[in-house]
Amino acid sequence: MMKVINVENEKIKSILSQIERYYLSDNVSKLVDDWEMKRLEDSLITSYHPCSDKYLFEAHKLDVLQFCHPRAVLGISIKDMAYFNLRELVMIETKLLSLGKIISSTKNSLSIIYPENGYIGWHHNGNAPGYNALFTYSVDGSGNFKYWDRETKSITTIQDNPGWNIKVGYFPSIEDENKLFWHAAETKSKRISIAYILDNEEAWKKATDRILSKE
Ligand SMILES: [Fe+2]
Repeated sequence: MMKVINVENEKIKSILSQIERYYLSDNVSKLVDDWEMKRLEDSLITSYHPCSDKYLFEAHKLDVLQFCHPRAVLGISIKDMAYFNLRELVMIETKLLSLGKIISSTKNSLSIIYPENGYIGWHHNGNAPGYNALFTYSVDGSGNFKYWDRETKSITTIQDNPGWNIKVGYFPSIEDENKLFWHAAETKSKRISIAYILDNEEAWKKATDRILSKE
């Protein structure tokens, strides 16, 4: 389950725009282009693009434990990249921490930047069930987030808008395989994704309210 909301909170907007500015700087863009370790290839399903319908249908035939994490990624952790420059690393970690604090999250579970044509393959995070908030930046709206809708038995695509896109949701546990929330994301142009875990439903509702309120 994933719900799209608008960010109204001025503090959050300010942090997001600082992260965006860092990501779009010439220095970082060049690092992303040159980074050799940005591709993780799946050794299990090799014939299809990791975000394609066919890949998902193949994955559904295999052991769900293999897909707790994405098996194929074209992207780089923001922290890994900033590691080259200690000042930048501290700056980015501070921003991610402040953003987490505003929404009272204890864990930043993902901070990834995708190069052009970047992606994160189909997976379900069923090993780390819980409530979450996902902040995604797209340069031009060419990216998307896809999930398997169990009700309609079809893939639903949530297209990015240019700029920041916020989603809040819940990832069910692997204990009930039928309820797993399979998802993937891909983009033609640059994209950032930052995810936070919320401890419980109440914390998640508070975080959602915080994002939606001016203060
Ligand atoms: Fe995920």
